[in-house]
Amino acid sequence: MNLLVTGGCGFIGSNFVRYWLRQHPGSRVIVYDKLTYAGRKENLNDLWGHDGLRLVVGDIGDMHLVRRTCQEQNIDLIVNFAAETHVDQSILGPLVFTDTNVRGTHVLLEVARELGIRLHHISTDEVYGHIRAGHQSVETDELAPRSPYAASKAAADQLVQAYAITYGIPVTITRGANNVGPYQYPEKAVPLFSTNAILGEPLPIYGDGLQMRDYAHVYDHCTGIETVLLKGKIGEVYNVGTGREMTNLEMVDIVLTTLGKDHALVRHVTDRPGHDRRYSMNVDKLRALGWEPKYDPKQAVAEAAKWYVDNHWWWEPIRSGEFREYYNRQYAERLSGADQ
Ligand code: NAD
Ligand code: DAU
Repeated sequence: MNLLVTGGCGFIGSNFVRYWLRQHPGSRVIVYDKLTYAGRKENLNDLWGHDGLRLVVGDIGDMHLVRRTCQEQNIDLIVNFAAETHVDQSILGPLVFTDTNVRGTHVLLEVARELGIRLHHISTDEVYGHIRAGHQSVETDELAPRSPYAASKAAADQLVQAYAITYGIPVTITRGANNVGPYQYPEKAVPLFSTNAILGEPLPIYGDGLQMRDYAHVYDHCTGIETVLLKGKIGEVYNVGTGREMTNLEMVDIVLTTLGKDHALVRHVTDRPGHDRRYSMNVDKLRALGWEPKYDPKQAVAEAAKWYVDNHWWWEPIRSGEFREYYNRQYAERLSGADQ
């Protein structure tokens, strides 16, 4: 099989490429990536040179390049990870989220339709909006996104479903929970808190820290996507997570305990506007295909925190570069008025 993996230099995409090539040695993977700040060639350092792997640097919104790449590389399947992915960045500068997440996905759908290629789209639990206590989102729930990021992902998710209904093109969708693990860009909570703790810098917790997330290991997201690619029903949507949540304060406690760092580093700062209180998904539909997560959320967070201890080579150059500008914009004022 020849796969076009868009966004394959990002966090989940690179973990998926590594997993896929190991499990499916005869496959070819073409990584198609714009290499934004979050797309890092070094995420696949151990694999460049592998016979089955190529990189095409490009934007998913560039229809000519997407079409040409699919034709030249005889692509059978597009797996779309490419996206702008950080909620806080979507609050600071939302337009690029529409360009990539909505229009970019639309371009992939047009090329898939024209060339008769299956498309698997990576969506998110954020499309359901925040979930009242006691409920777990199922795939047929209405979408109710609440941030510019989530709204752009919900629009893409619905476009994919609309193309399946209108044009009958073969698509599948997975909606993933919060992932943690190797190579996650340190703007996201677990790598931010882990690297801040290692550096002895304060950990900025938004609001009361009682928001709930299902922190799932990226490995389980990869096996979930693989399961849907191999056994999923065309036209269907599948949730991928552990089905178990914890509060952000519990997550921080695991990070600090794992790293042997002092809880005095915790700071409660001004909340994220429109902060979703709780995500929670029912994953029975994916389980019915024979999939099970390997990690529980506690293990997942602890494993992730350890990875940052062992991989300074990866995150130190990021944290000393353009990331600093973003960090100051996002946190300097918040931290100056923070409570311990
Ligand atoms: P990431 O930000 O780490 O990586 C995104 C990748 O997409 C980068 O390699 C980037 O260069 C590339 N990209 C961005 N714009 C592009 C464009 N216009 N054209 C081509 N490439 C482009 O993201 P991630 O955390 O790995 O998320 C991957 C996918 O999974 C996204 O669709 C995201 O919405 C979804 N998702 C993420 C999580 C999570 O917890 N991180 C959970 C559920 C779903
Ligand atoms: O749920 C899936 C989503 O998970 C993905 O679709 C997104 O791409 C991914 O970024 C992630 O979104 P979240 O907003 O849930 O993740 P983030 O790591 O930004 O934040 C996790 C929680 O931690 C959330 O409740 C906000 C909180 N937080 C985050 C940061 C960055 C803080 O309290 N302080 C922070 O500095």
